[in-house]
Amino acid sequence: MNGLRVNTTAWSLDSLHDLESRAKTLLHLHFSHFSQYYPSIVLPSFACILVATSMFIFSFSKLSTRPSKPSESLQALFTVIAPSSVAWPREYASLVKHLASSRARTVAISITSLIDNVCEGNVEVRDYADLPDLFSEKLVVYGWRLSLALDTAWNVEVLRWVIGNHFSWGQPAISAKQKNRPALKRAHGASRPKAPAPTACASFSITSNPHLELDSTPFSHLDASLLQLRTALAPGSVASLEFTTPASPLAFLSAPFSICAAPFLPRRYARTGVGRTATPLLASVHRILELLTAGPAALALESVSNVSRTYADGLNAAAEQLEEDRATRTAFIQRCGIAGWREQRLMMAWEAALFSAGYMTRWVVVVRKQAAC
Ligand SMILES: *[C@@H]1O[C@H](CO)[C@@H](O)[C@H](O)[C@H]1NC(C)=O
Repeated sequence: MNGLRVNTTAWSLDSLHDLESRAKTLLHLHFSHFSQYYPSIVLPSFACILVATSMFIFSFSKLSTRPSKPSESLQALFTVIAPSSVAWPREYASLVKHLASSRARTVAISITSLIDNVCEGNVEVRDYADLPDLFSEKLVVYGWRLSLALDTAWNVEVLRWVIGNHFSWGQPAISAKQKNRPALKRAHGASRPKAPAPTACASFSITSNPHLELDSTPFSHLDASLLQLRTALAPGSVASLEFTTPASPLAFLSAPFSICAAPFLPRRYARTGVGRTATPLLASVHRILELLTAGPAALALESVSNVSRTYADGLNAAAEQLEEDRATRTAFIQRCGIAGWREQRLMMAWEAALFSAGYMTRWVVVVRKQAAC
């Protein structure tokens, strides 16, 4: 290697040529020498060096583009959820499904963990007004997108509930309810929002006299129940129906479907035996109107109102009352327990957020049976 040493002070074209030819000779000698004796080593070792170098460069580049501080994502999470005690890090680990790669900058919050941790009092939702954006993945804090991660456990629960619902025959159909409610005629004009009355554990309605609450009719009974109403309604009388439908059809077990299912699933903590059905997730307003107003003994349509905003406002007001009004809170906690109370608070806000996020629509339909002439 001594022959390659160049005197930089005597730098000239000659010396450059000289250097070049020397190098060529050296390289030629070296390689012919090498390839002559170790032909099977040259290529593999060269490949090994290449792989090692590229691995080093790759890992180094990954290191340098990794999210600069893990605390950033934690801060983003903090703006939505607050720890209730000092035992935060463990809850944080179970809450956060994954902190996605640097490129996505997503904090995915496990839905089951979130609900359980809120109900058990480990964490609190800072501002329920964030829920609509969280549901539709529009919530961006410090450059981090916050979203809900749907775990398998959650989807299994939703699936079991939908199937269980489909085969439930014990639920009363509309005709049975009708007998219990003779004041069917007063239904007309009943779609005023009423003062919040969060006494029921599982259901809530804005009408002062909710005659037919279709959300509690199993989806498999819906058609038969509406046909029954057509024939059972006395001539000249009016019936109002109140129900929830998806704003646009939800793909079965898609992320929006599973998020929308949460407030309708049986409560996990506030066990009251009153469940709601999967009908709100599956029903279509067009189908319901068709069943009421087409064919023999058809009913006349008096009005169809989209009451989503009023209903959501009513739910939020009721949820606030449940939290802030001492008497309401105490009564509920006595009946359903503290975890049940937290769950009810969360689920009322959750349901309201589904309307604000544009996933669900609440309807009041008034129909009249024509008087026989
Ligand atoms: C129903 O009302 C809500 C709230 O006002 C609105 O966002 C939604 O677009 C309406 N839906 C339909 C189908 O009119």
